[in-house]
Amino acid sequence: MGMERKSTIERKLTIDIKKIRSEFPILHQEVNGKPLVYFDNAATSQKPIQVIKAIDDYYGRYNANIHRGVHHLSQVATDAYEKARRTSQKFINAEHEHEVLFTAGTTDSINLVAQTWGRKNIQKGDEIILTQLEHHSNIVPWQMLAEEKGAIIKVVDINEAGELDMEGYKSLLCNATKLVAFNHISNALGTLNPVKEMTALAHNAGATVLIDGAQSVPHMKVDVQELDADFYTFSAHKICGPTGVGVLYGKEALLEKMPPWRGGGEMIKTVSFSGTTYNELPFKFEAGTPHIEGGIVMGVAMDYLNQIGLENIAAYEAELLEYGVQKMAELEYIDFIGTAKEKASVISFNMKGAHPFDVGTILDKLGIAVRTGHHCCQPLMERLGIPGTVRASFAFYNTKEEIDALVSGLERAHKMFS
Ligand SMILES: Cc1ncc(COP(=O)(O)O)c(C=O)c1O
Repeated sequence: MGMERKSTIERKLTIDIKKIRSEFPILHQEVNGKPLVYFDNAATSQKPIQVIKAIDDYYGRYNANIHRGVHHLSQVATDAYEKARRTSQKFINAEHEHEVLFTAGTTDSINLVAQTWGRKNIQKGDEIILTQLEHHSNIVPWQMLAEEKGAIIKVVDINEAGELDMEGYKSLLCNATKLVAFNHISNALGTLNPVKEMTALAHNAGATVLIDGAQSVPHMKVDVQELDADFYTFSAHKICGPTGVGVLYGKEALLEKMPPWRGGGEMIKTVSFSGTTYNELPFKFEAGTPHIEGGIVMGVAMDYLNQIGLENIAAYEAELLEYGVQKMAELEYIDFIGTAKEKASVISFNMKGAHPFDVGTILDKLGIAVRTGHHCCQPLMERLGIPGTVRASFAFYNTKEEIDALVSGLERAHKMFS
């Protein structure tokens, strides 16, 4: 008890919310005549001034193509880009810098693994295990691969709370399992999955593991070596960085053996019409001019989060989640969708007698941005027997006062529907 109280006090001191909010210009505006409350952070995060300035700085001071220029600007840009790779390496504690590939984001990374590792290693009759909680981007690339190869997809079910059925998972693992792919945190329900245990179980069965970290890296410190992930991926835009860029981490031994995917400049060592030799890691997988500014600024966004401290972010967001759940539980017409014991700061819910879209539209009129619908998880919604949910997802720049505004908005919406 004493310990608990102490840790709450410590938590309160760790985030300077006033300073943080002052760094996000977009938050200080009115929408429909009300102060904006941005609760669509699981879709994309907002950007602090440090990130916005870094984009300006790149184009205003050192825009140039990288890796092949001898001139000054090209060298400055190359240094900044490769520095961002080292920042990314540290951000997820990868053993080697060249295990960090820059991609267009989570979707692109998963397609890369499916098309290179997958096409090489998955054969007819092999099994791929996914979970009921997956985002479409961790389903469709595997379906495309399975269709091409004649492989079989198996799905881990969930319980009432939206937690994975671990006994069911264990029973699906067998000699035929070649790949297991699952998210670290569910974007639709917020469930935090036991990914370390799941990875160990998959490895015992001889399978390779891909973890979709799109929703975890914004909220917690991730250590790919500790998790023993074979592949781990995430997108910059969910961690205060730009859209269209992200990271695919892969273990060196796997990446070395994988054939390249996209062909073109940068990914080659030599090209002749009698044959081409490929570049070393990570460039083998980075064909063409990359999203240079995106990569650099993703590093700036990581520095920003590191400076606040991911442990502080996690603790503060846990407080927001606790507060939100407590306040919304007082509204008897709200059904929580997803009540896992281990959860990120995501509240998915429905209002009795109202369609999620209508609830979202009323909240928008009150300046409150939430997501409504299937959240790119149609199989999950089908499993839950609902058309969709309203999702309020909190970030470290949100406040309890904003949650109060959401609760009043829901009260107002309920009056309109009853
Ligand atoms: C769990 C999860 N996986 C994958 C994605 C896809 O990310 P992106 O659209 O950045 O490729 C998202 C985006 O919402 C997500 O939440």
